[in-house]
Amino acid sequence: MPNQFRTSVIARGPVTAEGLAQDVNSLFDGRGGPAYRIGRAQAAPVRSPVHSFVTGIPSAVPSVRGMRIVVIGGTGLIGTWMVRILRAGGHDVAAHSLSTGLDLRSEKGLPQALNGADVVVNLTNSPTYDRAAPVFFRETTENLLLAAEDAEVGHLVTLSVVGAERVPRLPYFRAKVLQEDLIEAGPVPFSIMRATQTFELVEAMLPPAASGPTVRLPATALQPLAAKEVAWMLATVSAGEPLEGIRDVAGPEVLTLAEVAQATLSARGDNRTVVTGGDAGLFAAVPGDELLADAGATIAPTTLEQWLGR
Ligand SMILES: NC(=O)c1ccc[n+]([C@@H]2O[C@H](COP(=O)([O-])OP(=O)(O)OC[C@H]3O[C@@H](n4cnc5c(N)ncnc54)[C@H](OP(=O)(O)O)[C@@H]3O)[C@@H](O)[C@H]2O)c1
Repeated sequence: MPNQFRTSVIARGPVTAEGLAQDVNSLFDGRGGPAYRIGRAQAAPVRSPVHSFVTGIPSAVPSVRGMRIVVIGGTGLIGTWMVRILRAGGHDVAAHSLSTGLDLRSEKGLPQALNGADVVVNLTNSPTYDRAAPVFFRETTENLLLAAEDAEVGHLVTLSVVGAERVPRLPYFRAKVLQEDLIEAGPVPFSIMRATQTFELVEAMLPPAASGPTVRLPATALQPLAAKEVAWMLATVSAGEPLEGIRDVAGPEVLTLAEVAQATLSARGDNRTVVTGGDAGLFAAVPGDELLADAGATIAPTTLEQWLGR
């Protein structure tokens, strides 16, 4: 199954540190504190920072400046935001990926990239969601763990998927659990963040208009959030001490895949109708609420309506 979710729906226009800080600040309340909260999704976000790894941060960008942070997968959806946010926070950030000449599978360019790094963030993704995905994540994670140990990198940060362990029948989710297990058993101090699906991911997976006036999608329950918010949380974690554990971040609302898709199409002026009941694609095998976050997750502030109207 091809990775149809790869998207170029990233930031708009030229980015300056000042502009980005403003952009990122728009995610937060007027007191300069993040509007994230802890708990289950609700209709409206609670505007007070309560989580240990987002409280105590005086400004909207990570405040510990000057770390050398290597982002592998820095050209992807989350990676691009992450690099911008970290740079705006005053860090020395190097973005690497296949297209810049670093291949995490063959290790080409890897030792050079990690030389002198304080932190390495892995935001690579498998090119497919099928049985090749576990092979990709095993190879790339093992290569990165060994190289990071050799380079004496003090912190490995990785993004996984909320609920992946509840969907073992899908190779992609199995692969993400395998990746988590390798990191937890590995030699490098680590932080794993798990996120629910981003709005951008759902938009990118919508079939092209030429496929007909009706879009069939399963009733999978999602808790979507903005890629920028995932990146901000990851940037905050990356600039701190290794968690030596896993933290979850999720969106503020529980919606079905079909609901997110219908609202997105309508907001884009696309007249197609979404019908619940599709049996194709990655989420068809996730009929229930397996991908929702448990109580205790950090809840990001932006709703679907706010994101679509941005
Ligand atoms: N997006 C979401 O909603 C979401 C939610 C939860 C978790 N995650 C996790 O977050 C991670 C990043 O997701 P994403 O959506 O940002 O991915 P993405 O947009 O598909 O980007 C993938 C990145 O990986 C790079 N890459 C692929 N193969 C590589 C290799 N062999 N060596 C080096 N770089 C390689 C790509 O480089 P090129 O651009 O040069 O090809 C690109 O920079 C994934 O592991 C995913 O499981 C994503």
